[in-house]
Parts: sequence; structure tokens; C-alpha cells
Amino acid sequence: MRVGVLTGGGDCPGLNAVIRAVVRTGTAESGYEFIGFRDGWRGPLEGDTIPLDVDAVRGILPRGGTILGSSRTNPLAPEAAAAGRSGLERIRDNLASLGVDALVAIGGEDTLGVANHLHEAGASVVGVPKTIDNDLSATDYTFGFDTAVNIAMEAIDRLHTTAESHHRALIVEVMGRSAGWIALHAGLAGGANVILIPEQPFDIEQVCGWVEHRFQTRYAPIVVVSEGAHPKEAGEMASSQRLDAFGHARLGGVGQQLADEIERRTGKEARCAVLGHIQRGGTPTAFDRVLATRFGVHAIRAVAAGQFGTMVALRGTDIIGVPLRDATSELKLVPADRYAEAAIFFG
Ligand code: F6P
Repeated sequence: MRVGVLTGGGDCPGLNAVIRAVVRTGTAESGYEFIGFRDGWRGPLEGDTIPLDVDAVRGILPRGGTILGSSRTNPLAPEAAAAGRSGLERIRDNLASLGVDALVAIGGEDTLGVANHLHEAGASVVGVPKTIDNDLSATDYTFGFDTAVNIAMEAIDRLHTTAESHHRALIVEVMGRSAGWIALHAGLAGGANVILIPEQPFDIEQVCGWVEHRFQTRYAPIVVVSEGAHPKEAGEMASSQRLDAFGHARLGGVGQQLADEIERRTGKEARCAVLGHIQRGGTPTAFDRVLATRFGVHAIRAVAAGQFGTMVALRGTDIIGVPLRDATSELKLVPADRYAEAAIFFG
């Protein structure tokens, strides 16, 4: 049996740990051969492959990024069709000509959505969820999230001291798209004075009130803002018009706008630090390495058991299989009562 492996969408720490676990488990337990597809769905679409065996995955457990490369190529987009064949048909033909019997697709909402379409079109696919945003409802956690939160927490710890030295407000913009999980966890762990998330539109007057209250305690305020957060009054504060291949707006800029507004309204200096892709780079935490490894072991066992059209997921401490279509049916957003717990510490 020959198994293809691909990583799609935004990269995240732990992808290499999954690839290693899939290859080592599948080789040891089932004697499978593996083939890597380069750059997400572009690989199977164009038949672009890379050799993948136990030697190729040695030493990659602690490495960030993905040895297979990644992209946001969308095989369902009209541009993916060529020579009278749709993107999905091209992929199916390439899998057949490369002798690939099954595919392990590691990705987030978009990659797994394509995996589900491919499964419904007759291919043998198993999914592995990944995203630093932690916004997939079918799994309790995705790997990459813990690493991103730890990076953001460390940044907040550092920003506290420089903010205090200069009596400034510091606004930290973090990723997360339409889910505020990174902001919520990093803000709580880092002792932020205000946390703003997309699920709870903010009142700029109230934010300025918290900032001023913090200055009155002689400490400097740290405001953590998720890239998708927006004020109650004016819809999205900062959303770019640029869209990726899956139609998502490229977010960013709310932190600077917030800093400008806080400075204007309070008269206190406010600066912005955008963490950006720093949150996605570098070595995974122990939690993410373990979760990614367990996902990899269970994904290739799902292949061996013929459980196609499923995705591995974490429920409590167990790894289970769930239908791929559930992976993408609903985004997991921060519930209001979770945000209310964090708000106790604002100001
Ligand atoms: O989904 C992961 C993520 O890092 C989001 O938090 C962010 O909005 C997006 O990807 C950025 O994607 P890109 O690196 O393609 O701009």
C-alpha cells in the first residue's frame, strides 16, 4: 500500500511531528510506502512529489514549518481546472497514476473541506486537523495553538516591563482570524489588562476607561487584540480587501488603529506590536509535539482500518475519529461566559 501525505493552509508548529509519526507508524505497523506531496493541494493537483520514508523524517520532530511545504491552493476553484478536467478530477487521476492508495491530508478548515470533497468523489482520505487558531469545533484542541499562545504570552511578559519603563500603553495584535482563542489564552496567561476578540465587539470608550484605570495604578496597560476584533460602532475596524484562494480576507491593522484611537482619546502614548507570523514559526511546545504525534499515529491506523472520510480529533484525553464533514461544519468560537471570566481582570 502506498500512502500520500500533504500539509495545506497556513503552516503551524507540529506539522513535521505528524508527518514523522504517520511515516514511522505506517512503516513499522503496516509496512506501507509513503510519498510526500509538495505545497498542499498543489502537489496532487500537479503531481509534484517528494520521497518520504523513515530516513526522510529523521530529526524533524522539533522543527517548525513543514518539510513538505504548504500553500493555500484551492482545487475547487475554477482556476484549478485544466484540459477539461476539474481540480478534483486532476487530483484523482494523479493519485491513480502515482499508485497512491490513500491520502493523509493535514490541514485546517479549508484543506479538510477539500479532503471531504475528494472523499465524496471516491478517494480514500483521512484528515488531521491543524491550526494555530484552534477554531475547529470537531476537536478540543489543534496542535500549533499551544505554541502560538506561549509565543504571544512571552511577548506580553516582555512588553509589560518596557511599557512600565516608559509609561505607555502597549497594544499587542495577535492572529486567530474570526476566533479569539489565541488572544484570550495569551492575554489571560500574560496578565493583559484588556483582551479584545472578534466574538465580542468592543466599546472604545470602555477600552479607554480600562486603559486609564490601569495608568492610575501606576502600572502600564497591555491590551491584547485579536486581528479580527472590531468595535461595536463601526463594523470591522481594519479588514483588508485582499482575499486568499479560499476567499478569506487577509486581516491585520486593528492594533495600530486601536493605539491611535487610545492615544487620541486618553492623551497617553500608545504603541502597537504586531506579532504576526512569529506566532507560527519555530519549534513546537511539548504539548503540541505530543498531540501532533498522537494524531499522526491514529491517522495512519485509521488508514489501516479503512476508516476513510474521517478525521482524527482530541476529545478529553482520547484521540477519536470523526466524519471529515464535521471538521468544517462549524467554527469553534469563544463562548460569552469564557470571555466574561477573562473580563474580571480587565482594567
Ligand atoms: O489560520 C492561521 C492564520 O495564521 C490566521 O491566524 C491568520 O489570519 C492567517 O493564517 C494568515 O495567513 P497567511 O499567512 O496566509 O497570511
